Amino acid sequence: MRNRTQVGIVGAGPAGLMLSHLLHGAGVESVVLEIKSRADVEATLRAAVLEQGTVDLLVSTGVGERMLREGAVHRGVHLRFGGRSHRIDFPSQTGGRAITLYPQHEVLRDLIAARLAAGGDVRFEVSDVRLDGLDGDAPRIRFAAGGVAQELRCDFIAGCDGFHGVSRPSIPPGVLTEHVHDYPFGWLGTLVEAPAVTGEIVYAHSRRGFALVSTRTPSVQRYYLQCDPHDEVDAWPDERIWAELHGRLAGEDGWRLAEGPIFQKGVIAMRSYVVEPMQRGRLFLAGDAAHIVPPTGAKGLNLAISDVRLLAEAIVESYARVRRDLLDRYSATALKRVWRAQHFAWWMTAMLHRFPGDDEFQVRLQLAQLEQVTSSPAASTMLAESYVGAF
Ligand code: APR
Ligand code: PHB
Repeated sequence: MRNRTQVGIVGAGPAGLMLSHLLHGAGVESVVLEIKSRADVEATLRAAVLEQGTVDLLVSTGVGERMLREGAVHRGVHLRFGGRSHRIDFPSQTGGRAITLYPQHEVLRDLIAARLAAGGDVRFEVSDVRLDGLDGDAPRIRFAAGGVAQELRCDFIAGCDGFHGVSRPSIPPGVLTEHVHDYPFGWLGTLVEAPAVTGEIVYAHSRRGFALVSTRTPSVQRYYLQCDPHDEVDAWPDERIWAELHGRLAGEDGWRLAEGPIFQKGVIAMRSYVVEPMQRGRLFLAGDAAHIVPPTGAKGLNLAISDVRLLAEAIVESYARVRRDLLDRYSATALKRVWRAQHFAWWMTAMLHRFPGDDEFQVRLQLAQLEQVTSSPAASTMLAESYVGAF
């Protein structure tokens, strides 16, 4: 096993694997270190909405073949309020862009397969990962593999180890500024064996709380309900889930979900988090290690991919031209997009959810905003652009 590489990457999530893949395409070598097993990484259920830019990057770098075959292209979303659905069209308002539904773990399977086929060095089930020498020219990652202590010497380290990883806490105290916003609700996510009743995602506003109708395959649907952030899944027996879904989606048009066996339930916390700057010395943070968005705008996975696209370009430039301009600007460049996405996710969340203590005035303001977004071309273009990632 090599103990020296150009870029040491901590974490084999979307950020870490895509970074390794992009660097390989540009002739820069990397080693990816991951605490989980390959099977666990490939089985973890997460997001599924890929912006057009993410789709294009997967395709142009040779890992989009299965996504093009098995993913579903959605050319719009529905906002449902006041008992009716209102469609926002993407291509006509964004220069032809759309989104693709293809689960994150499938993206990870494709990336892992591509890295391994290209002889890439991805090490699963490592432990005790620690970062050293970040401020010098020769940063190191110490870790254990199979119980044996090892050291990986690198030119750069990419902290792609998610919100609970070791990279961000390795930065000395006092360097980072954290921006945190917690929401007073969570989402109950379910997977249901049932036929699709809509070809596109439905975001529903209701006085009983928010509901979201999404899909995975023609026979598996993904439904979410706003819930208390401290709820255990036991608080949500199937009958309660169906009663709330039907209640929150009810309308004069009679639109109704098909029921079926619910085979997965989980509660997701809602939080906005940004750390600034996203770099320290030779350590660069990307993806959830640096920022978290609430799932309402479906931006988490796409932000991770756009971070590493910038980071790969900057690292490649530093080797090709012995310049560090792009690397020095990495955090500032990435954070612009992060804050745009952060605002979009917060705005969608605020427009669609029932906040504790909200009175009828607040509800009327939300309905007025929804009316504007679905009737004013300017306002609906703004939503469409943000949703497909045209910013
Ligand atoms: N050492 C090595 N790997 C680690 C460590 C560690 N100390 N801590 C965590 N990891 C691994 C995790 O096991 C995980 O596989 O880092 C990976 C981080 O992946 P993600 O959490 O998926 O983060 P990221 O790649 O930034 O992707 C963000 O994933 O969490 C979703 O909704 C989020 O879609 C967004 C996307
Ligand atoms: C999903 O399909 O899981 C999904 C879709 C849209 C969101 C969040 C999650 O905003």
